[in-house]
Formats: sequence, C-alpha cells, structure tokens
Amino acid sequence: MSEDVRVGIIGAGAIVRLSHLPAIARVPGVRAVAIADPDSDRVKVLADEHDATAHADYREMIAAGGLDAVLVATPNHLHRDIVEHATAAGLHVFTEKPVAHTLEDALAIERACTAAGVVTQTGFNQRFREPVRLAKQGIAAGVVGDVLAFRSVYSESHAVYPAATGYRYNLAQSGGASILDLAIHRIDLARHLVGDIVEVCATIDHATIPHPADDNVFLLLRFASGATGVISADRFSPQVSNATDLYGPTGTIHVSSETRNPFQSVPLAFSSLLPHDQLPADFANADWPSAWWLDYTPGSWVSITPPRLSPYDAEWAAFVAAIGGTVDPDVPTIGDGVRAQEIVTAAYRSVREHRWVSLPLEDPAEPIPSYS
Ligand SMILES: NC(=O)c1ccc[n+]([C@@H]2O[C@H](COP(=O)([O-])OP(=O)(O)OC[C@H]3O[C@@H](n4cnc5c(N)ncnc54)[C@H](O)[C@@H]3O)[C@@H](O)[C@H]2O)c1
Repeated sequence: MSEDVRVGIIGAGAIVRLSHLPAIARVPGVRAVAIADPDSDRVKVLADEHDATAHADYREMIAAGGLDAVLVATPNHLHRDIVEHATAAGLHVFTEKPVAHTLEDALAIERACTAAGVVTQTGFNQRFREPVRLAKQGIAAGVVGDVLAFRSVYSESHAVYPAATGYRYNLAQSGGASILDLAIHRIDLARHLVGDIVEVCATIDHATIPHPADDNVFLLLRFASGATGVISADRFSPQVSNATDLYGPTGTIHVSSETRNPFQSVPLAFSSLLPHDQLPADFANADWPSAWWLDYTPGSWVSITPPRLSPYDAEWAAFVAAIGGTVDPDVPTIGDGVRAQEIVTAAYRSVREHRWVSLPLEDPAEPIPSYS
C-alpha cells in the first residue's frame, strides 16, 4: 500500500461533490485518485477538480488497479454489484447508507466483505457529530440514568436536497424514500446511543409529495434494554427538523443540528439530577450560572454548543485509522448498516401484516412497498 490510502470514488453525485471529496482533500493519509460515473460531465468536473482519473464504468476503474479502497455513493440498488467487484479485488469498502435497497442485498454485501476480510464502514455520519459524541459520553456517565425513552424526529422536504438524479423516489432503485434516506440515520443513532432493537411497529404512508414514495414514517421501537423509542421522519415539511431526545430517571439529553429552529435552538442541552462533580467535564464546564457566586443547580437546563466540526472529516479519519489497524468500536461498519436495514425491513413487514415484528428477522425477503 502506498503511504496514502488511495480511494476510488463510485458515483459523482451530490454527496460526493458536497461532502466526501472536500473531506478527503482535508484529511491526512487519504487521496481520491479515481472517480467513476456514467455521467461524463459530472465525473469530468469532479475528477479535474480533485486531480483524479475519470471513468465511465466502476468495473473498468477497479480493474485498472492502483486502489486500496472504494467509496460507494451511487443509487442504492447498485451497491451490491459494486461491493462484490471491489471485494473481489481485495479493496476496503466505505459504503454510503443505506447499505443497499433491500435487506437481501445488504446481507450479500456483508458476506462479501467478511469473506474478503476487508475494512468496512457505513456512512452514518450523524454518529460523528460533536453533539452526538457528547451525548454518548453523557449517557455512559449516567447523566440520564438508564435511557428509558428515545424520541427522534427528522423532517426534510423532498425538494431541498440538491441530488443529481431522482433515484430516491424510484423505489425499485432506492428501496424506500423517507425511511431509507432519513429515518435510517435515526435507527442507527438509536442503536448507537441506546442499544439493540428487538421489536418494531410502523406506520409508513405517502401523504402528499409529488412522487409515489413514502413521505410520512413513524416507527415504534422496543430495545433489548427494555427502553422504548419513537422515530418520525417526513419529506413534506418545508423546514428541516432534526432533533433527538433521550430520557431517563436521572435526566434528559437533547441533541439537534438545525439550531435556527427555535424549538431546537441549541445543538446539545441536558438536565440532570447528578451533582456537578459527577458530570462529565464537557457537561460540568458548560454551566454558567447567572451570577458567579451561584452554584450549579442539579435539574436545571444547561446548553452546550460544541465546535461545528465536519462529521465527514471524522468519518474519513476513522476509515484511514481502521485500515491502518486502529479500530474504534463507535465507528459504524457495514454490519451496523445491515442491522439498520433489517429494522427498515421489519417496519415494512409490520405495515404489510399490521403487527409488531420481532428482530432478528428469520426471513430477510420482503417486498419493497409501493404507493400511489
Ligand atoms: N450519509 C448521508 O447523510 C447521505 C446523504 C446523501 C446521500 N447519501 C447516499 O449516497 C448515495 C448517493 O446519493 P446522492 O445524494 O449523491 O445521489 P445523486 O442522485 O446526487 O447521485 C448519484 C450519482 O450516482 C451516479 N451513478 C448512477 N449509476 C452509476 C454507476 N453505475 N456507476 C457510478 N455512478 C453511477 C449518478 O450518475 C449520480 O451522479 C446514496 O446511497 C445515498 O443514500 C448519504
């Protein structure tokens, strides 16, 4: 392997242009050396900007050699074929979420990566946001006590994100719109912050968007720990809403990223019955009483505004570290992506059979729903 991890980028769409290529350019130890996309204009612009070779076909790019890893950032139904080609060439795999458009493909991807023994990562970038990292620390320190309730909302209009193509709303290609694109981030966050999910009950509807796709999702969750949770995602609200709350008998932690929304006006807030000296340092040091002679009051609300660091930089730094042998258990692997996809599949079954569905699923086969 050369000194830098040499990455072949597959897909020259919005997420690669906006997030991955700028992050790779900033992070030491990694270079984007080749980009593949059948759209000759998009691939040429990005390849020229980033001093990479341009390819129309990812198979030809992989066969040309000179790569250590690939980033998979195409429409979801293509992920399996790409990963199977990449792992056959012994390349490490960073795949965008969702891992695939169906659980069966996601499981095949996991098998291919395991058999090849390569490093894997799934693009659940929200784990790398500072407020989430701190929330995880706070939970471990007992700021809320046992997490008993998890509530998360993710609203984002179908019209705001500057996608290069319309694949998201072609469910044969995406496998799901609001649930696989938005809610899956929160499914992963729920697993990351609270633990394994053992039961799901869902409502998934098409309410109003001008595409035959899910735009209004509610998931009710039971965790192995005994906690319960709810995730709601929609694609019709004109404003982005992005908030997660964790509740326990000792306190509450609130995490948000859309902080211009007055209801979610800080990136992180907590209220805890723990005394000041038992709070983690980042929590204890965030309290500014209204006069210097006043002490922290357990149970009061404290806001934290951590630095707004790029989660994509952190993702790439973690991928490079893992390839170098330093594995952080908080970094989402393809296995984490598959477990999240299994919960989406369980939600589809819950809607189709109108019941709670237990995990793990014995039968991964489930039709992609259709909406009119
Ligand atoms: N982590 C996140 O928050 C996040 C955000 C956005 C997108 N994503 C994921 O990234 C992936 C791409 O999403 P996007 O928003 O960039 O979509 P997009 O529509 O903007 O771009 C998709 C690109 O894939 C290209 N493509 C199609 N067929 C291809 C092929 N055979 N080989 C190579 N490229 C091909 C298209 O030409 C297009 O340039 C999806 O899996 C999506 O879920 C993740």
